Amino acid sequence: MNWRMWKPILSAFLLAVALSGCSRDKSGEVEVLHWWTSGGEARSVAELKKMLEERGDTWKDFAVAGGGGETAMTVLKSRVVSGNPPTAAQVKGPGIQEWAREGVLANLDDTAKAGDWDNLLPDVVSNVMKYDGHYVAVPVNVHRVNWMWANPEVFAKAGAEVPTTWEAFAVAADKIQKAGFIAIAHGGQPWQDATLFESIALGTGGAEWYRKAFVDLDQDALNSPTMKKSFETLRMVQQYIDKDAANRDWNLATAMVINGKAAMQFMGDWAKGEFTAAGKTPGTDYVCAPAPGTDGAFTFNIDSFIMFEQKDDAAKTAQAHLAEAIMDPKFQEIFNLNKGSIPVRLGMDLSKFDQCAKDSAAQFASASTNKTLVPSWAHEMAMPPANKGAMFDVVTAFMNSPDMTAAAATEKMAAAGK
Ligand code: GAL
Repeated sequence: MNWRMWKPILSAFLLAVALSGCSRDKSGEVEVLHWWTSGGEARSVAELKKMLEERGDTWKDFAVAGGGGETAMTVLKSRVVSGNPPTAAQVKGPGIQEWAREGVLANLDDTAKAGDWDNLLPDVVSNVMKYDGHYVAVPVNVHRVNWMWANPEVFAKAGAEVPTTWEAFAVAADKIQKAGFIAIAHGGQPWQDATLFESIALGTGGAEWYRKAFVDLDQDALNSPTMKKSFETLRMVQQYIDKDAANRDWNLATAMVINGKAAMQFMGDWAKGEFTAAGKTPGTDYVCAPAPGTDGAFTFNIDSFIMFEQKDDAAKTAQAHLAEAIMDPKFQEIFNLNKGSIPVRLGMDLSKFDQCAKDSAAQFASASTNKTLVPSWAHEMAMPPANKGAMFDVVTAFMNSPDMTAAAATEKMAAAGK
């Protein structure tokens, strides 16, 4: 072979070496803090890891167990304070703004612009992802919180009907208990108590009052007969929770509904991820229905990731890859099929999704037109973390103190909103 024949082969070889060197330079490690450790959550996060690795980067898992993410947020604070933040962290709602104010977050505008996020995200979502007009977080999904998950076989055995009002709930729950089942699967943890109370309050006062009380923190709405009525209903509902609920994890409560020990659970649609992971089909094996009194309203909970500013170019590129992967339609589909939520990206084909997800998407759209779309305060979306923490304390104290009156709890709620 002479030189003329070798030349193209050699140049192709050199190009390949150069390109592989390039991609090596560009790939980086991303340490991702999250609290997705239940069966359905782990399946979902595995998809994110896969998508990142497909882009040539390395995923360093930083999972901090604990539903609702309170423990994860404490761990995050200590890592940042010690000058060693992870590359990315699952942070939501007003918490995003708080981190951005500290000046520690990476600006994601370039990735957002290249990916057309402004046109692909509903405003109610992109507003939360921006600080001072710049993207500092990337949204993953939309969870609906005001759901009730029911085991139809248990209802049938008890001769009870899936309730649509809290009055009808009491009738059904009595029958279920008499038939020897646990009426409500619940875990006595502050965030689960708040999740239950949030749905009761929405069902009692409606979306407009809910917004005044939990978003505007309006004192008149907080310190109102509607709040008192909500606590009275919580007291009634509480009787139907079993004695072993203290500190039970939410996914173990879901398992009680899955295996027919309990009739229902009030939980956001990450619970559906557990039914899916157990191979169950909605409509036959389980039923999803709005929590009593909340049909047409939608408490939203958007999972998102913030990225901490990096010096290293490879780490910056890996962050961009992660953000880009999260908004990829392929990821939006597979992740949300496993997670129980719906895609956050507009215009997605939902044909592979089940009826609960389709209902959720339809209600998200109609609630946003009808002004019954409200942020979930139990899931960090509605108020500054300090007020949220104070309200969690009130609800949990009420549940753990049989002598506390609804009137006393109402006053404490108003104080927590200050
Ligand atoms: C929520 C989170 C969901 C789900 C749930 C239980 O706050 O948004 O994605 O994981 O906690 O851990």
